[in-house]
Amino acid sequence: MSTPLLSVRDLHVEIDTSRGLLKAIRGVSLDINAGDSLGIVGESGSGKSITLKAILGLLPKNARVTSGEIHVDGVDLATLSEKARRALLSEKIGIVFQDAIAALNPVMRIGVQIAEVPHRRLGWSKEKSHARAIELMELVGIPEAEKRFSLYPHQLSGGLRQRVAIAIALSGNPQLIFCDEPTTALDVTIQAQVLRLLMELRVKERTGLVFVTHDLAVVNEICDEINVMYAGRFVESGSVANTFQRPSHPYTYSLLKSAPDVDHQSERLFSISGETADLTKPVTGCPFAPRCFAATQLCSESEPALLAQASSFSACHHASNFTEKIPTDHFSLGTQGKAHS
Ligand SMILES: Nc1ncnc2c1ncn2[C@@H]1O[C@H](COP(=O)(O)OP(=O)(O)OP(=O)(O)O)[C@@H](O)[C@H]1O
Ligand code: SF4
Ligand SMILES: [Mg+2]
Repeated sequence: MSTPLLSVRDLHVEIDTSRGLLKAIRGVSLDINAGDSLGIVGESGSGKSITLKAILGLLPKNARVTSGEIHVDGVDLATLSEKARRALLSEKIGIVFQDAIAALNPVMRIGVQIAEVPHRRLGWSKEKSHARAIELMELVGIPEAEKRFSLYPHQLSGGLRQRVAIAIALSGNPQLIFCDEPTTALDVTIQAQVLRLLMELRVKERTGLVFVTHDLAVVNEICDEINVMYAGRFVESGSVANTFQRPSHPYTYSLLKSAPDVDHQSERLFSISGETADLTKPVTGCPFAPRCFAATQLCSESEPALLAQASSFSACHHASNFTEKIPTDHFSLGTQGKAHS
C-alpha cells in the first residue's frame, strides 16, 4: 500500500479557556491519499477547525497538541525542526479557511499575492511566477486574468476574492487542500462554481481534499468519505454513500434529519435539542447521551470506542440496533441524503 499523503493518529488538543482546561480534541485519527475527498461535519464547536489547525501547526497561543502523531507523506512531523515542519506543510498542503477573504492582503495586487509563493518559496523567476499566477487565475475561473492581475482585493466581488484565495492555496502546487467552510460567504451560484472547481482539481491533478462544512448536501456532492465529529472526536466514519443511507450513530441520524431535504421536498426539520457536551468537565459516558433518543444506562457509564460496524465505523454502544428506538414522530430516513448509487 502507498504511503498516505496525510496520516493522523490519536490526536489530542487542549485549550486554556476562561472556564478551565478544554479537552477540545480527544483522539482524532485519519488517513488521506492522493485524489481522496474527505468531509468533516458536526455542529459548531465540535472541533473541526481546531483539528485542521492542529495538523497545520496553526493553533492559537492558548492551545496545544498534547499527544498524537502526524505524518505528512510518510514524514513524522515530530522529528522535524520548526522550520522544516513549516516548509513541508506549506509544500504539501494548501489552505482555504473560513475567513479566507479577510486573509488577503488589502494593499497588495491580487496577481502579486498569487505569484508570491512560486517566486519566494519555489524560487521561480518573476516572469515565470507571473505566468503561473495568470494560469491559476484562469484555472479558478477569474475572467480576464491578465487585466485583473493588477487589481486590489477591494476591487473584486466576494466570489472573485474567494477564487483568489483558492488560487493562492493552489499556487505552491499542493497535493492536498484543506477547506474550512470555504463557501459559506458565497451566493449559491458562486458556491456551485467553487465546488465544481475543487472537484475538477481532484480529478485532473489527483489533489486530495479535506472539506469541513455544516452542509451535508455539499458533502454529498463532493466527498467520498465522511467523518462526523461530536465533542472532539469522530463518532462515525465511513463512505458518504453508506453513511447517508444507513447511519450507524444516532448523532449522524439526527444530523441527517435536521438537514434540509436535498430535494427540498420537505419543509419540516428535525432539530437536535439539548446542549453539546462541556469538555472542560471530565467525560464519563457517551457525550451525546443527554441528547440521544436511544441512550441507556450503559451510555452514561462508559464512552464508546470507534469500532467497525456493517457499513462504517461508529462510536455508539447501540450502533447495530439504535434504529429500533427511533421515536415514531421522526421522519423516515428514505427522503434524506442522496445516496451515491
Ligand atoms: N482560541 C480559542 N480559545 C478558546 N477556546 C477555543 C478557541 N478556539 C476554539 N475554541 C474552542 O474549541 C472548541 C472547538 O472549536 P472549533 O473552532 O474547532 O469548532 P468548529 O467545529 O470548527 O465550529 P464551527 O462550526 O463553529 O466553526 C470549541 O469549544 C471552541 O469554543
Ligand atoms: S452510545 Fe448511547 S447515548 Fe451514545 S449515541 Fe449510542 S445510544 Fe446514544
Ligand atoms: Mg470551524
